[in-house]
Amino acid sequence: MSHRFRHLLGIEPLDAAQITFLLDQAKPFQEFQRHPLKKLATLRGKTVALLFFEASTRTRISFATAAARLGADTMNLQAESSSLKKGESLVDTVHTLLAMKPDAIVMRHSSSGAAEFIAARVDVPVINAGDGLHEHPTQALLDALTIRDRRGKLEGCKITIFGDILHSRVARSNIHLLSKFGAQITLCGPAMWLPRELECLAPNIRLVPRLEEALEGAEVVMALRIQQERLHEPSLPAEEYILNYQLTPSRLRLASPNAIVMHPGPMIRGLEIDPAVADSPQSCVLEQVTNGLAVRMAILFELIAGSAEPKEQAKDSSHAAD
Ligand code: NCD
Repeated sequence: MSHRFRHLLGIEPLDAAQITFLLDQAKPFQEFQRHPLKKLATLRGKTVALLFFEASTRTRISFATAAARLGADTMNLQAESSSLKKGESLVDTVHTLLAMKPDAIVMRHSSSGAAEFIAARVDVPVINAGDGLHEHPTQALLDALTIRDRRGKLEGCKITIFGDILHSRVARSNIHLLSKFGAQITLCGPAMWLPRELECLAPNIRLVPRLEEALEGAEVVMALRIQQERLHEPSLPAEEYILNYQLTPSRLRLASPNAIVMHPGPMIRGLEIDPAVADSPQSCVLEQVTNGLAVRMAILFELIAGSAEPKEQAKDSSHAAD
């Protein structure tokens, strides 16, 4: 089976072997983050266009740092979500950037499907850095790397993801990824963020509204960011969310004794998570950030150096990964 990737648009179209391949590719780059001199020449002379049409701090910095550590240059476009405020279309903006000849595009956009839309219209690799409510594939890969390191394997993992599942592309990409490894996935949150349709995303998904019940036996506990503007009277005031869903030390004790705690960031202490949990040895939050660099270096390397093969061949062998 081919592991050539033309784009990275989502986790859903990938199979377990392709995911394992990408995680294995990230391994040497994990080691590399510990080196005193963190600069390779692998992608010297290459340019990565970072197109962030939606606010981002960590993902943008992570991609920019990953590119720099591989020796690549970056072009930066940061436009808030009503992007193209001056009236230019998304396609025209992208073509303007392309006229400056980048070797890959990393794109975040508030519309689901935006990265795929662009990938169909350009001839450089496109990496989805988050598209609306759809997917955030590099986040799921860095999460998987973190889980695999701490737990030894991905297969059969018992994971509880809680919070605003409905609006979370992080949850979606993680669900797709872990379900390909036979995970038992428990989704938990207030009813308005836990519609029944979520069960259809993958096999082995349970929806459990009460956090205490959802945590029982979990080996991985993943908190999601809550957008504060979604918490309001009368439906769900912040106090109620904290009372029922904040991950506290006593709630965490309901999970498996060595359960790990994850959060994609930005983490709001005192809302989603009690600081004592965020700073506990069970928390992997900072490992996730470091692993993000390794995963993004591996993806940039794969897509840019891997696309050095003749274009037609690259296109033919890449559909599974599109
Ligand atoms: C996530 C995102 O933007 O999708 N953050 C991130 O990439 N680290 C999660 C979030 O903002 O809720």
